[in-house]
Amino acid sequence: MANMRARIVGTGHSYPEGILTNADLEKIVETSDDWITTRTGIKQRRKAAPGEYTSMFAVRAARQAIERAGLEPSDIDLLLCATVTPDQILPSTGCIIQAELGANKAAAMDIVAACSGFLYGLTLADTMIRTGQSKNALVIGAEILTQYVDYSDRQTCVLFGDGAGAAVLSASNGDRGILAARIRSDGRYEEQLYSPGGGTRKPATAETLASGDHFFKMKGNELFKVAVRSMADISKEVLEEAGLKPENVKLFIPHQANQRITDAVANKLNVESERVYSNIAMHGNTSSASIPIGLDECVEAGRITEGDLVLLASFGGGVTWGGVLMRW
Ligand code: ACO
Repeated sequence: MANMRARIVGTGHSYPEGILTNADLEKIVETSDDWITTRTGIKQRRKAAPGEYTSMFAVRAARQAIERAGLEPSDIDLLLCATVTPDQILPSTGCIIQAELGANKAAAMDIVAACSGFLYGLTLADTMIRTGQSKNALVIGAEILTQYVDYSDRQTCVLFGDGAGAAVLSASNGDRGILAARIRSDGRYEEQLYSPGGGTRKPATAETLASGDHFFKMKGNELFKVAVRSMADISKEVLEEAGLKPENVKLFIPHQANQRITDAVANKLNVESERVYSNIAMHGNTSSASIPIGLDECVEAGRITEGDLVLLASFGGGVTWGGVLMRW
């Protein structure tokens, strides 16, 4: 068991066909393509159509990941769905995905850790695999954020998009797989990004709906600084734990929140832009889905090959943050 590692053996992603461009947003709210591009790096984001929901995209991403892993849904014994935009309160979106996939031997559940949800999932799956409790774990990040966006709030509505990504991790001996994983949170920053209405503290009523309490509220400016510091620090922590340095990293895939956040974190780590993945122009911020979508895009494009050191880092509402370092 000592050399047992959790290794990603298959990835997948899926997103809605609908596209919302900066030009579309200019017609809805007082903003401009120039402001959005220079302040965030975003040009467009995917937007689910009415009738499309979170598990639809999660299932598509998961099927692709399982197939590429050369496994069957019945081989999956742990299914973790990271989402802050579940299909419904009960049952978990994880259980809904499990039924749809026919992954009947899995323990399925949701993880609510906002943009860090996928790295929370990888960290938990890594622990379950290394302790022998799981052999094949499926970790998904899936969001339909556009349903929680207030399209009269120009600070948030330009940022968020929809999509899903997935990875299958299997128990593996040898040097490849997750080398170090860390997750953290600090609930004192709750009000930097939150959705106050619709839960037991402020149940949904006609008034809460009318005042938009179910929408995301964000103090973007304050989040920005905490995000940069936390992602850089946790990246250094996982590298140090593995006895490695930023110059050893082949590819850095950070959570896609804002191109300026990505640039600032990469700068603090001394990782030049050629080794940093960015798809924010095409997807915006898809919260828990952003890292697994990015990871699968990199695999498909051949940007990661066997033996490469890949660093993932995230930051999100809660606040939460995480870092995962792996040998591909
Ligand atoms: N179009 C035009 N002007 C705008 C827009 C917009 N869409 N949004 C804000 N502005 C204006 C503001 O009103 C302000 O105007 P003022 O100076 O007259 O008051 C000005 O632009 C500057 O606003 P700032 O908030 O200081 O702009 P900033 O450069 O900080 O960019 C942003 C705002 C993009 C939100 C940035 O702070 C950010 O990306 N923060 C991090 C957000 C984040 O990562 N959130 C998610 C965490 S992930 C998760 O868990 C889901």
